[in-house]
Amino acid sequence: MILRGNYIRDLLSGDARSDVTVHGWVKTRRDSKDVCFVQLNDGSCPADLQVVISPANFDADLLRRVTTGACIRVNGQLASSPAAGQALELQAMEVKVIGEADPATYPLQKKGHTMEFLRDIGHLRTRSNTFGSVFRVRTSLAQAIHSFFHEEGFLYVHTPIITASDCEGAGAMFGVSTLDMLNVPRVNEGAQRGQVDFGQDFFGKPAYLTVSGQLEAEIFALAFTNVYTFGPTFRAENSNTPRHLAEFWMIEPEMAFCDLQDDMFFAEKFLKAIIARVMDECASDLEFFNKRIDNSVLQTLENVVNSVFEHITYTEAIALLEKSGQTWEFPVSWGSDLQSEHERYLTEQVFKKPVIVVDYPREIKAFYMRANDDGKTVRAMDVLAPRIGEIIGGSQREERHDVLLNRITEQGLDPASYWWYLELRKYGSAPHAGFGLGFERLMLYLTGMKNIRDVIPFPRTPGTAEF
Ligand code: 4AD
Ligand code: MG
Repeated sequence: MILRGNYIRDLLSGDARSDVTVHGWVKTRRDSKDVCFVQLNDGSCPADLQVVISPANFDADLLRRVTTGACIRVNGQLASSPAAGQALELQAMEVKVIGEADPATYPLQKKGHTMEFLRDIGHLRTRSNTFGSVFRVRTSLAQAIHSFFHEEGFLYVHTPIITASDCEGAGAMFGVSTLDMLNVPRVNEGAQRGQVDFGQDFFGKPAYLTVSGQLEAEIFALAFTNVYTFGPTFRAENSNTPRHLAEFWMIEPEMAFCDLQDDMFFAEKFLKAIIARVMDECASDLEFFNKRIDNSVLQTLENVVNSVFEHITYTEAIALLEKSGQTWEFPVSWGSDLQSEHERYLTEQVFKKPVIVVDYPREIKAFYMRANDDGKTVRAMDVLAPRIGEIIGGSQREERHDVLLNRITEQGLDPASYWWYLELRKYGSAPHAGFGLGFERLMLYLTGMKNIRDVIPFPRTPGTAEF
């Protein structure tokens, strides 16, 4: 195994020395008269290690097998490089081909490929420059998030992936069942006669893949004060857009004794802290994105870290959109949800920075959000970011038992399936709030990548579950 200190990243940031062994995959190979240059990458950094091979010292058949995509091991001398472009190069003394890659069929060639093509070779795109940087940034971002919460004293809760409750009340859930779909058991009698008999299913009732860990996180917040979840969530909405996945990762902090104001300020502090940390840790990957993918990435991130987020109410947002003079695909009126085009207008044209919109109409938001005294709005807050639109959705939660019960009934949900959630409001209830950050949405923001399918290792979208 390769231990710390021996990755190409470590070698390139160290000094010249002899007897160095590296392993990696050949990015490219270039032959001139009596020297062969191999660009080798082991995924540890955007830079390749230049391996210099003198063909005279090696078996010709061995060298023929050192092709783009092949996995090789090289032992040699790490020396300062006479050529521009790199400080160090590896002068090969021993070369071993660990795994060949037939150049006639290896799909990943040096020429730029489209993101669509790379998606079709999800098992090999990981070796391209772009995806190397994407997944290093993803790791750094995940670590930054855990460190942030750990340093803030939050408890990390592992909320369940299989659940019987619909957190968002939107019904966009994948069912989980072991029933035989070709021979589904039916209820024989009573009011449910003829319906699927979930009593015979694995969990004895309908079960789903979770859309959010929030409801369970609330249980923990009302015992441990400040908690967070970070896990996969699933939505069976048929949204084939560059911003939606059927399986995505969400970070959901939940804080007791916290109102909507605290929630907003905390969300802003959190976003700034984790972005700053990734900027520090992945500087060379972010430079890559800035150069190759979107030349405004670094400036945008700088801007977010240094700006003060704008706060407006939903009602103010609607007024701004109405008097914008723009033509919208989705018409704007008080009571309708903000669409991506509206969110982008507010963040990109009006404020030119992240905007937090609060107090949305109760009809378009989930049952658990705390009702405002105006009877029309709830204490919701969405953080909107330029280019992406909604990146965080959060709220203060309804902590009053009877008000919550009314909301559940009003939205046509069955109070019986929320019995424990309601009971939390009977025993030691407290004001609390939280939010959900879409991990891949933030990844889009950090990298400038255009499609959410390209910032998750293996995207799941309608019609696609390859790899
Ligand atoms: O706004 P949402 O639906 O909020 C919740 O799920 C709450 N339970 C969160 C909470 O208060 N604890 O989703 C939160 C975020 C969105 O702002 C968005 O960034 C992301 O999750 N998101 C998606 N990301 C990728 N693909 C999808 N289909 C997404 N749906 C939501
Ligand atoms: Mg939302």
